[in-house]
Amino acid sequence: MKTVFFIKSETINLSNYILKDPTGSTGRLDVITRCALAALLNNFELEQNVEFWAFLDNYGTYIFKYELFQQVIFPISELRFMDYFVKVIQGLDEGSKKKNPLNRVIITDIDIFDAIEKLRKKGFQAYILHEKGTEFSQEKFEKDKNYLFIIGNQLGNFLDSKELKDTGISCVSLGTSQSYLASSVIKLIKLQIIDSFTNIKNLKLT
Ligand SMILES: C[S@@+](CC[C@H](N)C(=O)[O-])C[C@H]1O[C@@H](n2cnc3c(N)ncnc32)[C@H](O)[C@@H]1O
Repeated sequence: MKTVFFIKSETINLSNYILKDPTGSTGRLDVITRCALAALLNNFELEQNVEFWAFLDNYGTYIFKYELFQQVIFPISELRFMDYFVKVIQGLDEGSKKKNPLNRVIITDIDIFDAIEKLRKKGFQAYILHEKGTEFSQEKFEKDKNYLFIIGNQLGNFLDSKELKDTGISCVSLGTSQSYLASSVIKLIKLQIIDSFTNIKNLKLT
């Protein structure tokens, strides 16, 4: 089973980037960073069969998948990961490129709707994670199926776009209409999927 997370953000802006201000000087690349780490890591270990695609309106699409990285040098801290990611986005000089543990991230200009179509054609079951969706824990997961989850950035407004609604992809919620951090939602989704295979219902979101 492969699990893929998509996030799209129209707010990222690195023109005044300084490491000391990850939130204010990046247009919230810190949110994308936390989501990437939540998707790619499990207890600080790179997780197989999980991918994270970041669609950054002003900078292109970045695909993170397990096999592109080396565990030993993978930046597990938010600031390090974000700083290396910024350097990838800004397109490095040859010299430092080699030392960047994220230098094998796939950079493409694929649009999120083309990417959704591509994965759905490959048989991925797609879901939109939305506070007002149907309760997620009711979904049945199959080990031999692949899943695509589309999650909102700090604003979440893309999820309410007509174009996304027109895809007919169903919206699922974590059972409460309360709004959680996107990175927490990714971790909870991964836990619930694992739980649904181990039939241990230990995740009760009150
Ligand atoms: C911080 S929330 C977005 C902001 C929020 N929509 C607001 O109006 O304040 C980030 C994303 O996490 C996901 N999310 C947050 N809470 C959720 C919930 N209870 N169920 C499912 N997804 C949720 C959604 O994809 C949401 O767009």
